Amino acid sequence: MYKTFPIYLVILAAVTVLNFKLCQCESSFKTLAPVKSYVKANTQTKAVQALIYRVLGDRSSEVIVEVQPSSESKDHAYIHNYLDKLKITGTSGVAVAFAFNKYLKYYCRKQISWAGDQLEHIPHPLPHVPVTGWSIKAGVKYRYYQNVCTVSYSSVWWNWTRWEREIDWMALNGINLPLAFTGQEAIWQRVYKQLGCTDKDLDEHFAGPAFLAWGRMGNIHGFGGPLPQSWKESQLALQHKILERMRSLGMIPVLPGFAGHVPAAITRLYPDAEVSKLSSWSHFNCTYSCTILLEPHDPLFRQIGSMFIEEQMKEYNGTNHIYNADTFNEMIPRSSDVGYLANASNAVYEAMAKTDPDAIWLMQGWLFHSAPYFWKSPQIKALVTAVPQGRMLILDLFSEAFPQYPRTYDYYGQPFIWCMLHDFGGNLGFYGKIEIVNQSPYATLHANNSTMVGTGITPEGINQNYIMYDLMLEVGYSVQPENLTFWLVEYAMRRYNADNVDAIKTWLTLGSSIYNDTSIGFPAKSLIRGSLVKRPSLTTTELPYWYQRSSLRSAWDSFATALDNLEDIETVRYDSVDITRQMLQAIHRSIYYNMVQEYKQKNLSNVEQMGSYMLDLLKDFDRILSTDKHFMMGCWIADARALGTNDNEKDLYEYNARNQVTLWGPDGEIMDYADKHWASLTLNYYWPRWAMFIYHLEQALVYDVAFNSTAYNSNVFRNIEEPFTKDKTVFPTVPKEHPITVAKEIYLKWKDMLQ
Ligand SMILES: *[C@@H]1O[C@H](CO)[C@@H](O)[C@H](O)[C@H]1NC(C)=O
Ligand SMILES: *[C@@H]1O[C@H](CO)[C@@H](O)[C@H](O)[C@H]1NC(C)=O
Ligand SMILES: *[C@@H]1O[C@H](CO)[C@@H](O)[C@H](O)[C@H]1NC(C)=O
Ligand SMILES: *[C@@H]1O[C@H](CO)[C@@H](O)[C@H](O)[C@H]1NC(C)=O
Ligand SMILES: *[C@@H]1O[C@H](CO)[C@@H](O)[C@H](O)[C@H]1NC(C)=O
Ligand SMILES: *[C@@H]1O[C@H](CO)[C@@H](O)[C@H](O)[C@H]1NC(C)=O
Ligand SMILES: *[C@@H]1O[C@H](CO)[C@@H](O)[C@H](O)[C@H]1NC(C)=O
Ligand SMILES: *[C@@H]1O[C@H](CO)[C@@H](O)[C@H](O)[C@H]1NC(C)=O
Ligand SMILES: *[C@@H]1O[C@H](CO)[C@@H](O)[C@H](O)[C@H]1NC(C)=O
Ligand SMILES: *[C@@H]1O[C@H](CO)[C@@H](O)[C@H](O)[C@H]1NC(C)=O
Repeated sequence: MYKTFPIYLVILAAVTVLNFKLCQCESSFKTLAPVKSYVKANTQTKAVQALIYRVLGDRSSEVIVEVQPSSESKDHAYIHNYLDKLKITGTSGVAVAFAFNKYLKYYCRKQISWAGDQLEHIPHPLPHVPVTGWSIKAGVKYRYYQNVCTVSYSSVWWNWTRWEREIDWMALNGINLPLAFTGQEAIWQRVYKQLGCTDKDLDEHFAGPAFLAWGRMGNIHGFGGPLPQSWKESQLALQHKILERMRSLGMIPVLPGFAGHVPAAITRLYPDAEVSKLSSWSHFNCTYSCTILLEPHDPLFRQIGSMFIEEQMKEYNGTNHIYNADTFNEMIPRSSDVGYLANASNAVYEAMAKTDPDAIWLMQGWLFHSAPYFWKSPQIKALVTAVPQGRMLILDLFSEAFPQYPRTYDYYGQPFIWCMLHDFGGNLGFYGKIEIVNQSPYATLHANNSTMVGTGITPEGINQNYIMYDLMLEVGYSVQPENLTFWLVEYAMRRYNADNVDAIKTWLTLGSSIYNDTSIGFPAKSLIRGSLVKRPSLTTTELPYWYQRSSLRSAWDSFATALDNLEDIETVRYDSVDITRQMLQAIHRSIYYNMVQEYKQKNLSNVEQMGSYMLDLLKDFDRILSTDKHFMMGCWIADARALGTNDNEKDLYEYNARNQVTLWGPDGEIMDYADKHWASLTLNYYWPRWAMFIYHLEQALVYDVAFNSTAYNSNVFRNIEEPFTKDKTVFPTVPKEHPITVAKEIYLKWKDMLQ
């Protein structure tokens, strides 16, 4: 349904950059130094018109739009009937786009999502809103999007076609503060070369495409590289388009700033510079980790930081003044002295402000959650208050599970954004804190003295659990919690273009069970993604679930019944795969625990029986995943290879693509962290891994010896895991079978195994 808009109109709509002067007068609570989109109203109007054309095609002429900026700080929009058409006015391009999408959702029951679009049979003429019009107000000033990891886990191989779609989706969902990290290596390269670094120095510094996020944060360096020059240049060109489009819609793209991590060569070039070597990150050793941190009080720190901002402003024709930098993400500072931390923090900000006096430092608050033993109140206070009030904006990154604003008294007065993180590594697996997401942002915002200024979504990877994001994105534009029963019913209706009682029941059941984790914190990641993606072992203990497991069976039954009456449309096909995938994962888990029990009972024939169920199930898992491109590893690899300009580059990108979702590091340093329920990955990696495990168990029983995990681990690494990352077998990119047919077959075959 997406139409391509003539490129010349896009160019006509190019942004005009004026340097917006910030008001320095506001201070105290609830204030973030004001930042406004500096793009003219008529540019935004044209950009949002073009967006609506991409969604509705010729019928876009039935929607008249107008952007009218207002002095109010929060976006709002108004929809009214205008002859036989619809007119939408709003305070920004994003406000108009959000209102348009909300209209599509609630008046036309349509959906545009990561998980497919449902834009079938849009009513003729467009339904009227009430005669008094429909007014839509944002509850908060900012709606933020992206974790610094999202660019590596999800958008790393995207071309402009895919980016354009995502930016449209952002606007349609009200996002006005997106992270814009693409292409920064080209600019770092210029800065470091001016400082004397050679190409070789930088080859050892930049990580490969699929690992850039962690290279940028100083967690690792060099792994997955060397980063080709063609990559740096083409990504920079892509970033130009991304920024131009974001700005034209009235968004404020968040650009990178300098956090202090430098190429090791800096110590050779500037022997007097004070640096420290960070400890190794995760299970990496110093070959690819232990990055050099330039000490913040060294004058070179501010110099590099401001050179970067300057170079970036030149390249992107100005700036939007908000910069992200994460100095101590998952890395412990060398000192917990409050003076040291305050100096470090101040240096990061000053390095931005030296060139851009209107700079605001946006920081992920993840460190406070990941290292609470280090980040106690005095340390946090020192870090956040060393920056002038309102010049720092903190992403409370994991608000639904581990909010940090309560223990920091709303970050000691610095503004923050309530973010739903929800996903790690882009893992699939149904999960959500639907009730918390629906309640907590409002309660937080309305608390006395709250410094919350926005809502956000900060998943490490996208393309999973769309329902949670659909809800969270509405939260930023509402003033009170939803009636979730009503909301879930509407979700099912718009997703399937149907008022189908079984489909509704499916989502009411899922919504009140697996998506309604009300416990404190976050369950073990392995419970969400399932054991089938983990390297098999005997030591995994069964953990408590946060939901009634019988609800899965009842949701599966309802969905299977619904399938007989739903149209064969993209969203139905997608969910046929997604729901089947989830159910098979749950069955796999129970087979696994049974198999381990039987092994402990030394019952060989039962181990064999469980083993054969499991391998058969994994084949069916691969089969259902093979029916939809969203779940095919072949597409992930093909997209990676498509960005290479020669065979060497293509092979490097393929290695990056394969390694990230499996070993995550040359030797399995973060093994299976970013696992995926994908076709081909299942058949060529998970399946043989389990087959070998079952064989080892059986052999142990036959010879009456203990299962030798050392032998198994080294065998599976040498023969399956590592070879998979280096292999170049071409995987299918086109589905062969029909998802709905296969989903029905699998349901009948396996349903009784799901208790
Ligand atoms: C860059 O910004 C200036 C104003 O600051 C504007 O005149 C010019 O058109 C812009 N160029 C592009 C390519 O957007
Ligand atoms: C972008 O990538 C997609 C595949 O992911 C492909 O279908 C599309 O043709 C590509 N667009 C361009 C302009 O190459
Ligand atoms: C912090 O910076 C100031 C001024 O640059 C310096 O005098 C002081 O020693 C630094 N404090 C620490 C603990 O590094
Ligand atoms: C905020 O403070 C006022 C006056 O101190 C009090 O009446 C009110 O109940 C408080 N509201 C909340 C949500 O704590
Ligand atoms: C809100 O701030 C005021 C003034 O700083 C203070 O007196 C009051 O105790 C605060 N209220 C809460 C609930 O923190
Ligand atoms: C919530 O919505 C459902 C479905 O529309 C409705 O039956 C119920 O009465 C609503 N509950 C409240 C408290 O409004
Ligand atoms: C989620 O669970 C809580 C606690 O059991 C319950 O109060 C709430 O109604 C549930 N929400 C939904 C949508 O089922
Ligand atoms: C294995 O268990 C089955 C029952 O599940 C039992 O019939 C059989 O005798 C057992 N075999 C051994 C060797 O214990
Ligand atoms: C460090 O990691 C690299 C890359 O995986 C490996 O080749 C090397 O042997 C490791 N060094 C040590 C001391 O373990
Ligand atoms: C387990 O396997 C390892 C590696 O093959 C071997 O060195 C070790 O002796 C084995 N352990 C036992 C108890 O057989």
